[in-house]
Amino acid sequence: MGQVQGKVAFVTGGASGIGASCARTFAREGASVVITDLSDEMGQALAAEINAAGGRATYLHQDVTDEAGWAPAIAEAVRLYGRLDILVANAGIAIFGSALDMSLADFRRQNAVNIEGVFLTAKYGIPAMRQAGNGGSIIMISSVAGLRGSANLAGYSASKGAVRLLSRSIALECAAAEDGIRCNSVHPGIIVTPIWQKAATPGGGGLNAALDPNEMARAAVPLGKPAEAQEIANGVLFLASDASAHMTGSELVIDGGLTAGSIRRRA
Ligand SMILES: NC(=O)c1ccc[n+]([C@@H]2O[C@H](COP(=O)([O-])OP(=O)(O)OC[C@H]3O[C@@H](n4cnc5c(N)ncnc54)[C@H](O)[C@@H]3O)[C@@H](O)[C@H]2O)c1
Repeated sequence: MGQVQGKVAFVTGGASGIGASCARTFAREGASVVITDLSDEMGQALAAEINAAGGRATYLHQDVTDEAGWAPAIAEAVRLYGRLDILVANAGIAIFGSALDMSLADFRRQNAVNIEGVFLTAKYGIPAMRQAGNGGSIIMISSVAGLRGSANLAGYSASKGAVRLLSRSIALECAAAEDGIRCNSVHPGIIVTPIWQKAATPGGGGLNAALDPNEMARAAVPLGKPAEAQEIANGVLFLASDASAHMTGSELVIDGGLTAGSIRRRA
């Protein structure tokens, strides 16, 4: 019996990185998975991989910032698999650079994905969960950048800090409604995913080269290395499963000690 056996999961930004690991993990643990993303080729390949391995997955094209697309996407998930139990609001982008150099357009673009997209996930997903009447679990992917400030990441930190309190507030709304739906945020530290290659914005206000998560983690993470996406998916699985039934409005930090403090490493 899998840890999410018979449940139906909806993962935004599920074609790559942490979202893809969540999709694979849910499928391995018995859930049917709807993967949505902008990257159609990768999303379709992942769904095919899961189905070939004996799991159940479908890929849908979705831009999380497009409100008009939300009701049809949720309706399609329910049509395909009959209900909705797990929502992972994972789609996100990171635009690096000084706040003073960042254009308002970039600041808004980042918020549109990182916070508006998460808001829409809850707004359109919760009614479908309520309709099924089995409760549910919402997991909002924030970041350690949502727990503390970071130079050259002001816009990203602002969006991820907003996710943290959105998650707590949604948790309380659901608790007050006694609908059995839980909501928690996850705060990854430095994780090896393609997001670091996408960080470069040559000629823009940000960086001129992609960042190396291994190098960054060696310098900043007490455990001395970045995490693999699977290590975040393990935490998401716990929050999605009934093993975390008494957790709502919580923050799961998976960061190798990054927010605990810093250490002096021996040479
Ligand atoms: N990698 C890290 O170190 C790290 C650390 C903390 C938090 N996070 C967060 O984890 C989440 C996943 O990031 P990742 O590292 O796996 O990056 P990733 O780039 O591998 O995956 C993000 C996915 O989101 C999709 N996406 C972007 N904009 C979208 C939109 N408008 N609509 C739908 N999909 C969209 C992308 O196509 C991509 O497949 C993000 O919210 C990110 O901020 C990552």
